Amino acid sequence: MKDKINTLNDKIAEAHLGGGKNRIAKQHSNKKLTARERVNYLMDEGSFEEIGMLVTHRTSDFGMEKELYYGDGVITGYGTINGRLVYIFAQDFTVFGGSLSETHAEKICKVMDMAIKMGAPMIGLNDSGGARIQEGVRSLGGYADIFYRNVQASGVIPQISAIMGPCAGGAVYSPAMTDFTMMVEDTSYMFVTGPNVVKTVTNETVTSEELGGASTHSTKSGVAHCTSTNDVECLEDLKRLLSYLPQSNKEMPRNLPYELNDEVRAKLAAIIPDNSNKPYDMHEVISGIIDEDSFFEIHKNYAENILVGFARLGGKSIGIIANQPMILAGCLDVNSSKKAARFTRFCDCFNIPLLVLVDVPGFLPGTDQEWNGIIVHGAKLLYALSEATVPRVTVITRKAYGGAYDVMNSKHIGADMNFAWPTAEIAVMGAKGASEIIFKKEINEAEDHEAKLLEKEVEYADLFANPYTAAQRGFVDEVILPQDTRRKLIKAFSMLENKVSVTPNRKHGNIPL
Ligand code: COA
Repeated sequence: MKDKINTLNDKIAEAHLGGGKNRIAKQHSNKKLTARERVNYLMDEGSFEEIGMLVTHRTSDFGMEKELYYGDGVITGYGTINGRLVYIFAQDFTVFGGSLSETHAEKICKVMDMAIKMGAPMIGLNDSGGARIQEGVRSLGGYADIFYRNVQASGVIPQISAIMGPCAGGAVYSPAMTDFTMMVEDTSYMFVTGPNVVKTVTNETVTSEELGGASTHSTKSGVAHCTSTNDVECLEDLKRLLSYLPQSNKEMPRNLPYELNDEVRAKLAAIIPDNSNKPYDMHEVISGIIDEDSFFEIHKNYAENILVGFARLGGKSIGIIANQPMILAGCLDVNSSKKAARFTRFCDCFNIPLLVLVDVPGFLPGTDQEWNGIIVHGAKLLYALSEATVPRVTVITRKAYGGAYDVMNSKHIGADMNFAWPTAEIAVMGAKGASEIIFKKEINEAEDHEAKLLEKEVEYADLFANPYTAAQRGFVDEVILPQDTRRKLIKAFSMLENKVSVTPNRKHGNIPL
């Protein structure tokens, strides 16, 4: 009996060593934690249970039968984060560079299947040299098995990927199909083809970091939703992100206890400048409304003309979409429309109510936008909000012009409660532009064109640059004082808690992609 116990203990000890001490030291010298250290850091202490620790690959080509490591380059299992069940895989770069073999993929698929069955989030910590080169097509099949499960799990359980090392070639498509991709600065990169192939095919010289580092993907491509400066910070961010999400689409996000005693927030009344063309930071409006320090921003440095992220309002988890007047005057463009549409759909999948804060002068004009398909991309946001059945509340803080008024969660596309501040201007366009068009003749015939334009501008603004015409029609449910916004929103979301929406029977809609 003792021998048998010793055998097991030896095997466990060997598995815990991954690719061996030297490779672990190399991992540390590259400023990366090992897969096991990452899992242990992420999970509640002592909660992690490993599945498939003693799995090894089945390849005998290239003398691989002599090189066997327990776990085959990936740690899989389950545990809890802040007391809630999660499933996880963490690729172990110390074993064959974390490359994905047939058995490595089988291990990942096993926990993915369990996560879907049990209705709990799936977390992937990626650190891999890609397909196990010695296995050829078997490893490609393994990737496809994972991709297929990513799609089956989509909208059923939250899926989060953290890229904590290389992630190249086909490997990128699993994270891309999960709900959130987080990246670690300087130590992670993602690309479909690496710098060498790029050089051969396009003659461009580019480093891995420039091509697919965290900074590139969080600013230029939008592939990364969040970035962190090191592994520990990334894992902390992951825990925080999870705290806003439910376990699955069958559950509601967990409420935090909250004592309501700060419903009136005076500082909200002082944010909007007197001159309606002057920018202000929409972050101030958000922090003025929500529970203290509760905003977790997604895509912080990408398409900054719109803000999206999770927050808590009276302890409840909500998703926020807000135009940002500081960048491009808050116009909607290709990237901001895609960013907000994807976020909307995530919240709608997972029962997270949406708050939309509006200050939008319209869509960004220009050939760049038109040629890049702003029509289709703008339609994504319009479509995503129109189809969302979660409670949806809008606050128009200032401009709501033109088609962008419709898109930004207007009453007409199914928003449940629409508020406007007294500073709201709900019109087809700004007073100057509108006057130049509809009073063109009068202005041209006037002796002093400028004076006439100004007179007409004031006339138009008096009539339309306010929230009252929309309120008269019922397009706005209530014009509210800014300082009352938090109070009104807490009540509105609470009133909407049991919302039931009946949607037409269909296989799925056809969102403009
Ligand atoms: N298949 C099998 N083994 C792999 C591998 C793969 N795809 N990628 C890396 N490895 C192994 C290496 O042979 C090395 O083994 P060793 O520890 O026994 O020496 C170990 O993983 C670490 O790789 P190394 O190249 O020393 O690490 P690095 O940090 O210098 O470079 C990569 C990392 C990912 C850039 C580099 O390994 C690489 O280019 N890998 C191949 C990527 C690829 O083309 N994948 C297939 C297409 S998806």
